[in-house]
Amino acid sequence: MKKPSEVFIEPRRAVGIRDEKIYGHFLEHFHRQIYGGIYAPDSPLADERGFRKDVIDALKEISPAIIRWPGGCYVSAYHWKDGVGKKRQPAYDKAWRVEETNEFGTDEYIDFCRQLQTEPYICTNAGSGTQEEMSDWVEYCNLKNEGKWAKLRIENGHTEPFAVKYWSIGNENYYDSEIGAKSLEEWGRYVKEAAKMMKRVDPSIELLAASTADLDWNINLLREAGEWLDWISIHDYWDVLDQKNEPSDYETCMVKSLRTGEKIAKAKNILGSLGYLGKIRIAFDEWNLRGWHHPNINSKTEDYLTPRDKNDINSTYTMAVFTGGFLNECLRNCDVVGMANFAPTVNTRGMIYTHENGIVLRPTYFVFELYTKYMGDTVVDSWVLGNDTFEAEKDGTTTEIPALDIAATIDSQEKNLRVSMVNKHPDQKAEVSLHAFAIENYSSVKIYTVWGESKDAFNDIGINQVKILENTLVLNSTAQQTIELLPHSVNVLVFCR
Ligand code: AHR
Repeated sequence: MKKPSEVFIEPRRAVGIRDEKIYGHFLEHFHRQIYGGIYAPDSPLADERGFRKDVIDALKEISPAIIRWPGGCYVSAYHWKDGVGKKRQPAYDKAWRVEETNEFGTDEYIDFCRQLQTEPYICTNAGSGTQEEMSDWVEYCNLKNEGKWAKLRIENGHTEPFAVKYWSIGNENYYDSEIGAKSLEEWGRYVKEAAKMMKRVDPSIELLAASTADLDWNINLLREAGEWLDWISIHDYWDVLDQKNEPSDYETCMVKSLRTGEKIAKAKNILGSLGYLGKIRIAFDEWNLRGWHHPNINSKTEDYLTPRDKNDINSTYTMAVFTGGFLNECLRNCDVVGMANFAPTVNTRGMIYTHENGIVLRPTYFVFELYTKYMGDTVVDSWVLGNDTFEAEKDGTTTEIPALDIAATIDSQEKNLRVSMVNKHPDQKAEVSLHAFAIENYSSVKIYTVWGESKDAFNDIGINQVKILENTLVLNSTAQQTIELLPHSVNVLVFCR
């Protein structure tokens, strides 16, 4: 008989306050994320602004704290001035080799964010763009009426400034594949010059810069521009599918789930070694288990468009367990990770899939629902002893994976304990023993569980295999309490007095 894993929680030892921007989102002008995703003016499901009402309603349920836009690779050849004003100039999108109508631009994006009461976060073009173009964008959004760009916003019908607080300089300019890629020597100076101009327009903005968990890149960036930055931006997709759309199986994804903290640790150590811990935070502003599929982007002959439809195959969306583990990683690192943006939110590898008659909520959506609704704001210390493990085979390598991944929080309003427990085991329940001192003041616990019968369960049109289960357990606080967690499940436990 296997011994239960022992979970210890120390509510008196706070790790930090989580920033709700770790439950953030990202939308790019790629495939059906914008057109046909959040914005479909010809759809009977759209409101008078052209936004999909069902998408807006679903997003409101998970209170997105921030949404990053317009890219991603797209932004490195995007000129924002094409996307404002009465007459929109169509442009050729050199990142993704399609025509961009520019029907959806800054004003529409801000309107979308206002509908959701979410913070806008604009990523600027540090590829083919200039520092002046970036600072003009800040003028357009944030100045009252000084200069021509603020006056243009007013002329476009928006008297009041948009007050966009979060701005990123560049996307992934460290990759050769990025349009307008920069060398590490160029990047620091480029960022500094952009930051100077943007902060001269509005010193209250918070600036991010494209970073990666690479020592040389960050040493140059931080030495040149660190004094101007509030964040460094890192990205990761652990199941890389850009050329081949062969999603990894469950066990392989659980092996990958062991690496969600790697880039955070590297970036944190670099910030620390350069004296920026406490001044600059990490924005993991693109993350997803599954990378996007967009093969042949440089090919003369191969089809590079239709393969993108494979991003929308709903049966491959079984990544709730990985998502729970990643959000726990952000909670455990809440002292330095202040933002994380699921990439993307709608369609492609997103948590919401749109079709002409409605939407499909993919498993990750339910994980965000549990964390945004039920996890607390103060992260407290927690640990596991005797964590059960399981083995995963891949290419002849066996990896031992701890089954239980937890994060404990206190809700500072309700002053009660809320604990996330992810059981990564593909087919066995987890027996968890909770120590009495953590739960002595509580009489019951409500357990919300994201679960589907199979570890490969998914949702699709007319198929609802994954949903949120609710259970209540009366606690016997005089002794240790044993709780059973379903296999391949994400659980949030809300303790009640
Ligand atoms: O696959 C999509 C791309 O992933 C985003 O546009 C880019 O920022 C990241 O490399």
